[in-house]
Amino acid sequence: MSTEPAQRTPLVVSTREELRDEQMRWALAGSLEAGDEPGRRAVVMTMGALHEGHLELVRRARAEAGPAGQVVVTIFVNPLQFGAGEDLDKYPRDLDGDVAKLAEVGADVVFAPTPDVVYPDGDPVVRVSAGRVGEVLEGASRPGHLDGVLTVVLKLMHLVRPDVALFGEKDAQQLLAVRRMVRDLEVSVEVVGVPTVREADGLALSSRNAYLSPEERERALALSRALRAGAAAADRGAAGVINDAREVLDGADGVVVDYLALVDPVTVDAVTDDFSGPALLLVAARVGSTRLIDNQAVEVSPEVQR
Ligand code: PAF
Repeated sequence: MSTEPAQRTPLVVSTREELRDEQMRWALAGSLEAGDEPGRRAVVMTMGALHEGHLELVRRARAEAGPAGQVVVTIFVNPLQFGAGEDLDKYPRDLDGDVAKLAEVGADVVFAPTPDVVYPDGDPVVRVSAGRVGEVLEGASRPGHLDGVLTVVLKLMHLVRPDVALFGEKDAQQLLAVRRMVRDLEVSVEVVGVPTVREADGLALSSRNAYLSPEERERALALSRALRAGAAAADRGAAGVINDAREVLDGADGVVVDYLALVDPVTVDAVTDDFSGPALLLVAARVGSTRLIDNQAVEVSPEVQR
C-alpha cells in the first residue's frame, strides 16, 4: 500500500497577491473548522527541476505541517545566487513536470514567481550578508553565492510566512547559513534539516546531476566514495579522515577537486588535528563542466598512538 498522501494537484500561484489570497483563504478555513488541531504552514524552497531529494523534503514538510496544515513549495531560480559564467541560463526548468511530482507528495501550494515579482525594484540594494560563513568553502569558490541565497530565503520567508522551513542537508553550508541567519536576525521560523537522498550507488541527488554524461556520472561516484572512506577513518583522528578521503579523490580520473574539508558543523571552521567530536566532511569537485558538492557527518575520535 502506498504511504503517499492522496494525490491532489497543488494550487499554482505566481504573484504576491495570489499567494496572500490563498493564505487568507487557508487561515479562514482553519478558523471555521473548530475542534481540529491547528495546522502549521511549512515551506520547502527550491529552484525547481525537482528530484526525489526535494520530494522527501515535501513529505517531511507534510508531516511537520500536520493534516490541517499548509505545505507551500517555492520554485524560483534566484539570479542573485549565481555568479558570472555560472549556469543561471541553462539551469533546468520544468514547472509542469515539477507540479505533477508535487501532486503525489502532499504539497498544497506552489509559489512560482518570476524575478520581477521577487525583485520588483530590480537587484536589491540592501542584502543579507552570510558574513564569515559565506566567505569560506562554497563562499570562497562562489563569492556572494550565500549572500544571494540568504537574501532570497529571507524574502521568501516574509512572503510565505511559514512556521517551519525545511532544507536539505546536502547543501550543508547553506543550511548552516540559514540557521545562523534565523538565529542572528531573530526570524520567527523553525528550521529543519532533512538528510541527503542518495542513489543506490551513493551519488547524492542533485538537479545538476542532469548535466552529467553516463561516464561523468560514474566518475562523480568518487565524491561519495571519498566521504565514506573519510568517515571510516574517524577513529584515526581528523588527519586520518582527510587523508583517506583525499586518497580516493587523488585516485579518481576526471574529478577536479575544489575543496575537501573537515569542519566544525556550527562555525564551518576547519578542525585541528587534535579535534574530537562531531564534524562535517565536505567536498566540492568539478566533473566535466559540472560542479558537484556532497558532505557527510563524521564523529571524530582523537588519533590513538599505536
Ligand atoms: O537550495 C536551493 O535550491 C536554493 O539555494 C534555495 C534555498 C531555493 C534558494 O534559492
